[in-house]
Amino acid sequence: MPETSTAKILTTESGAPVADNQNSAQAGIGGPVLIQDQQLIEKLARFNRERIPERVVHARGSGAYGYFEVTDDVTPYTRANFLNTVGKRTEVFLRFSTVAGNLGAGDAVRDPRGFALKFYTEEGNYDLVGNNTPVFFIKDPIKFPDFIHSQKRDPFTGVQEADNVWDYWSYSPESLHQITWLFGDRGIPASYRHMNGYGSHTYQWVAADGAAYWVKYHFKTNQGVRSLDAGQAAELVGQDADSHQRDLHQAIERGIFPSWTVHVQLMPVAEAADYRFNPFDLTKVWPHADYPLHKIGRLVLNRNPDNVFAEVEQAAFSPNNFVPGIGPSPDKMLQGRLFAYADAHRYRLGVNHTQLAVNAPRATTAQNYGRDGLGAANTAGRAKNYEPNSYDGPRQTDQALAAPTAVHGWTGTHAALAHAKDDDFFQAGELYRLMSDGEKERLIANLAGSIGSVGRDDVVERVLPFFHAADADYGRRLQAAVEAIRNADEA
Ligand code: HEM
Repeated sequence: MPETSTAKILTTESGAPVADNQNSAQAGIGGPVLIQDQQLIEKLARFNRERIPERVVHARGSGAYGYFEVTDDVTPYTRANFLNTVGKRTEVFLRFSTVAGNLGAGDAVRDPRGFALKFYTEEGNYDLVGNNTPVFFIKDPIKFPDFIHSQKRDPFTGVQEADNVWDYWSYSPESLHQITWLFGDRGIPASYRHMNGYGSHTYQWVAADGAAYWVKYHFKTNQGVRSLDAGQAAELVGQDADSHQRDLHQAIERGIFPSWTVHVQLMPVAEAADYRFNPFDLTKVWPHADYPLHKIGRLVLNRNPDNVFAEVEQAAFSPNNFVPGIGPSPDKMLQGRLFAYADAHRYRLGVNHTQLAVNAPRATTAQNYGRDGLGAANTAGRAKNYEPNSYDGPRQTDQALAAPTAVHGWTGTHAALAHAKDDDFFQAGELYRLMSDGEKERLIANLAGSIGSVGRDDVVERVLPFFHAADADYGRRLQAAVEAIRNADEA
């Protein structure tokens, strides 16, 4: 037995001293256990309740604190307070994640990575919930649950099925750009430190003079982009399922602080209507030749959370957490996400998730008339719980956070607006043509390995024409590689 310390006494949850934490109480030596043993009953009951629902996507992740520092003047473009002075630092929390795996899944897998950032600004928390890819598979939020179901475990077989993955994609040609990205070299990052981050969606910035811009965020890793090929990843994930978590945690513990240089692309709002791509289409990028990168700052991670459950598992990011000077765009996907996240948090963490330390504002306080609910820690004491009131309670500012967006037309379930150059394949082809010969070879091998394992001929027949449409060489080489695998399987 460890020596008894007088300084620290083990107590029950209500603070009473515990006499014995090793032997449960019994009715006589060798007799049945007594229900009156408060320590035993409380301990077992508490243990049963340790798990909360995992995130429906992005369940597996790693987090760290740090800061964002403004390096370049952006006041002509946004009045966001945390961006208003060169040199200004804002505390941040960043959670990286994989998408499809459940809690405990391996880190080194082919999957997009989440890049969810919370800025604790003086005007409230600003959440930028992005990925390590500038685009996404779909462009309408109504497709998201079906898409995710097709990528996760099959309800009957209980394993991920290539047939489901490609069956869904065969009806979703707009996925081709993101598929080309995912099966390319960047599809399996070597670690969370060695990948870029993107806001992915188009957002709105509004300057003090009212000028509005559409904006896209890019976080370029200063560690260099490093990736694993399929073989390296399979070996690593077998040896160490937690490789990304271990890498991030150990780097920060050793004082090797990862950093990213932050850039934005800016489009004056008036240019959106005639741009050759729909600038709100999440399956497209804005070519840098059209809208160059402007450096704005530096993101540094320098502190590990003290407690993974409290700070990483309970972290709640919501794309609808904006601050004055930053707002949403009409991107349909973003609009869907403005609802989905806070709703997920209310289910997963409860209505008072914003009061948890990692989620609560740090550089300001939350003051409103929302009250009570399960687990309320901040009840606002004696303050009045209605508004307006004559007790000097908090009041609205009458200043819109973002600029208004003009709308016109009829309500209805409309397909995404297509601009002159918009199709599902053009940018996938551009990405393919940018690749070196080696990259193309690995891309084809990765795709052929996955499509080659699909059992249903009709799925393969539906999906291959997408690659031909993107680039003739891409289509021809992939088709040959898939046929070689399928013919070898049949032989
Ligand atoms: C309409 C499309 C989408 C819907 C409905 C959706 C929904 C969700 C939901 C419900 C969660 C779990 C939240 C939680 O329980 O904490 C989540 C997590 C996440 N999503 Fe999405 N998502 C969508 C698209 C996207 C896109 C396009 C991106 C990136 C550009 C993205 C990035 C993330 C990230 C990074 C997380 C993990 C956040 C964290 O670390 O806690 N999602 N998503």
